[in-house]
Amino acid sequence: MKQNEILEDGHGRRFYYLRLSVTDVCNFRCGYCLPDGYQATPKGPDLSVAEAATVTRAFAQLGTRKVRLTGGEPSLRKDLPELIHNAKTTPGIRRVAVTSNGYKLPSVIDSWHHNGLDQLNISIDSLDDREFAEITGHDCLPKIRTGIDRALELGVQTKVNAVLLSDGAQARLHQFLNWLKTTPVTLRFIELMQTGDNRNYFASNHLRGSDIEQQLIETGWQLLPRALDAGPAREYVHPDYAGRIGLITPYSKDFCNSCNRLRISAQGKLHLCLFSDTGLDLRETIRNGDADTLAAKVRALIGNKEVSHYLQQGNTGGTQNLSIIGG
Ligand code: 5AD
Ligand code: SF4
Repeated sequence: MKQNEILEDGHGRRFYYLRLSVTDVCNFRCGYCLPDGYQATPKGPDLSVAEAATVTRAFAQLGTRKVRLTGGEPSLRKDLPELIHNAKTTPGIRRVAVTSNGYKLPSVIDSWHHNGLDQLNISIDSLDDREFAEITGHDCLPKIRTGIDRALELGVQTKVNAVLLSDGAQARLHQFLNWLKTTPVTLRFIELMQTGDNRNYFASNHLRGSDIEQQLIETGWQLLPRALDAGPAREYVHPDYAGRIGLITPYSKDFCNSCNRLRISAQGKLHLCLFSDTGLDLRETIRNGDADTLAAKVRALIGNKEVSHYLQQGNTGGTQNLSIIGG
């Protein structure tokens, strides 16, 4: 097979999107993810700038067109602007995105933009300052919102991720809708997923996305046609709103059919699925800087990708929480 032929698995899915975690450390304590804060475990150093560049080159050879830098919290790395720059200038890579909790956003967004950031995803589960502080352990929503306003001023495409939580869902939906009237962001409601660590939290907080979706449809929101290469979000627009709403419902049937992404952890492991039992260790090849060999190894491993995450059957795989590979 030619090296530059786009990566495809045994189920006809094509992977042009890489999610590269640059650290698993996070400073927030989201109730469903790291309720007791980040706990350090013995492990090697996070991928260096040179190693991240090797990974990106290898995936670009395999047809990757978009790289998302994620975490943990990627902005905890001082060299994030350099990582953005390197990803953006890798031949073949067209778009660079960052997923962040946004706690430093006003002071870093200009530099990220300057270094080539195309798209920003910020996590905000509630627009109520107090509730936000309760969920994340950090009372900094106003600062994050100032950062989002700046990102929009700079022309950075901005998406806001909100995990759906059952208690108080209607009040939060109301606040979000008010905000979207005038704010041109895409708000993405994500169904809470069960991980190894959050079983009880999941049992008492999970809310089905279809309930919200039905409500949107009844109030005039319209589903956009899905691009062929789009990921699993369903996006809605409304003539009275500047913003859009997307739904990400991993518990719905056939969710995995549109999977278009692969993940590399900050320790250099390939995760074929968010809920794989283990990551496949590629660190040695990455450390050697040999992008060709790395690309060949990834191509050989892709055949093992499962057709589904089997979340509906209660599978959480080896995923203790999403700070390890950034959702
Ligand atoms: N279920 C759903 N979303 C989660 N995230 C983290 N943990 C979970 C979970 N268990 C979300 C974060 C962020 C994105 C990276 O993943 O809130 O928006
Ligand atoms: Fe919250 Fe994301 Fe940090 Fe987990 S990694 S605690 S979801 S900000």
